[in-house]
Amino acid sequence: MNTIVTVSANPAIDLFLDVPRIVMDEVLRATDVRRVWAGKGFNVSRTVSRLGHPTLATGFVGGYAGMAISTGLAEEGIPTDFVRVDGETRTNVMIVDAATGRHIKVNQPGATVDVAAQAAFVARVTHLVQPGDFWVLSGSLSPGMPADFYAMLIELLHARGAFAALDSSGVALRAGCAVRPDLVKPNIAEARELTGNPLASPDDALQAVNAFHAAGARRVALSLGADGLILSDGNECWHIQPPQIAVRTAVGAGDALLGGLVWALAHGKPLREVASWGVGAGSAYAVADQLPVDAKPAVAALIERLTITPLKP
Ligand SMILES: Nc1ncnc2c1ncn2[C@@H]1O[C@H](COP(=O)(O)OP(=O)(O)OP(=O)(O)O)[C@@H](O)[C@H]1O
Ligand SMILES: [Mg+2]
Repeated sequence: MNTIVTVSANPAIDLFLDVPRIVMDEVLRATDVRRVWAGKGFNVSRTVSRLGHPTLATGFVGGYAGMAISTGLAEEGIPTDFVRVDGETRTNVMIVDAATGRHIKVNQPGATVDVAAQAAFVARVTHLVQPGDFWVLSGSLSPGMPADFYAMLIELLHARGAFAALDSSGVALRAGCAVRPDLVKPNIAEARELTGNPLASPDDALQAVNAFHAAGARRVALSLGADGLILSDGNECWHIQPPQIAVRTAVGAGDALLGGLVWALAHGKPLREVASWGVGAGSAYAVADQLPVDAKPAVAALIERLTITPLKP
């Protein structure tokens, strides 16, 4: 079977601290502490692994935090192949006020990935890539990386006969589109930023999808939060509307959606089913803040409740 390989260029440990109240200039006592291995690529690997497909998580990690991530993912059954960098992988801190539900979130920029680490990664990719494999490039780039790093990887993957999906934003997304990725997955904010389209109506959404095709993307998955997904390959186009559900969290739902899409593509499913597996995975994730370890039944149950509409691309 083909492997779904993910690239997390700027991973993090997300540290969640629950406190009874956020009070400035005082020592706060945490009532609950959670750590999450938070590369967006890790979320995609976790999704495809829970759908029963072989995966490998790659990217850059450093220091003790990097070791914790490698060990933590291995404990989850997700194999990794990282390039080590000199600095420490960042820890992003989220302090949640239990009384109000409001929070303070502090993100670090991340460890620098210098030219030598970038070259080591390109050598690693060249060694790992197999024709027919599916690669997913996710999230922001680390300090020190050029904006066209993902674009360069996509060209390398295509030259080796692998599939390349891109989920990033800003200049990295624009540069990536130019080299004809097989799939891009913008959300509403990323699509607004890149196309200048306000995305105020269904017509706008379709125009934004076409703007991504014009920029070079072969398939466009525009995720619309509670309004689901538009998926287009330039010939066929589908809108998939999830049912009304009680959402636990939507953070990371886009990564689950992307995992579902790529899993279905790796199984050779037709575009309409690809779109359904994407929204099924994204919305099943949003219900519970995670997918069950054996995720197929939950995703399949959600797919039964989708409203599927063909659109004119
Ligand atoms: N309120 C919701 N109700 C039902 N499904 C939802 C809701 N919010 C998100 N989803 C599901 O998750 C998918 C992705 O959501 P969204 O467009 O918010 O992704 P995103 O912004 O890329 O998320 P992230 O980057 O945090 O992973 C949607 O297409 C849908 O399937
Ligand atoms: Mg996203």
